[in-house]
Amino acid sequence: MATVLYIQASPRGGRSKSIQVADAFINAYITHHPGDTVEKLNLFEADLPVFGADAAAAKFKIPRNQPVNPAEQQVWSQVEAFIDQFKAADKYVLATPMWNFSIPYRLKHYLDIIVQPRYTFTVTENGYEGLVTGKPLLAVYARGGAYPPGSAVEGYDMQIRYVEHIFGFMGFTTIQRLVVEPTQNQGEQAAQKAIEAALANARILAENF
Ligand SMILES: Cc1cc2nc3c(=O)[nH]c(=O)nc-3n(C[C@H](O)[C@H](O)[C@H](O)COP(=O)(O)O)c2cc1C
Repeated sequence: MATVLYIQASPRGGRSKSIQVADAFINAYITHHPGDTVEKLNLFEADLPVFGADAAAAKFKIPRNQPVNPAEQQVWSQVEAFIDQFKAADKYVLATPMWNFSIPYRLKHYLDIIVQPRYTFTVTENGYEGLVTGKPLLAVYARGGAYPPGSAVEGYDMQIRYVEHIFGFMGFTTIQRLVVEPTQNQGEQAAQKAIEAALANARILAENF
């Protein structure tokens, strides 16, 4: 039976559009896969370790088998716990807002914790190689504005590009995408239409995820 890691990167709980759509996906997923487990990780509630001087020192020492001091060891154990949780999952759902054309800082913080050499990627003579392979990701992206392909503002969108780049870097090749836009900038009616379309697509995708 599979474990789905459901990562929430919005602090807005019940008001969050990305969470609303991802919740609909998860609920439909569970009806189609009743034996599976969903593990929820809200990044604004999680106790993410500070990735400061000690963690950065450990990051460079550990792959070189160099000794770490007690403070470095302590923070690295917390880093490893988040990596273990991440790697233990079989499937991934990410609900994330666009913040300043990219991702919320708590999601970046989480990625700075889990994207580590030897754990989630490696460097070979052929270049970078992701170590988290053969697992699907559904990413739900909510944005106040709209950034459709081919539009003048397409290039503003560093949310989708970054998320799919960094998960691809870790080895993900199966990434499905639900875009909820515009949730704010074009009024209530446009927002409602976008949310309803995303909810319907979420329920369809859940069946064969
Ligand atoms: C701090 C902050 C920054 C934001 N920056 C952008 C932005 O750059 N572009 C945009 O289209 N919407 C922006 N928004 C609007 C959110 O993307 C929008 O409200 C979205 O629905 C949030 O996702 P959520 O409903 O899941 O929390 C921003 C919102 C916040 C709170």
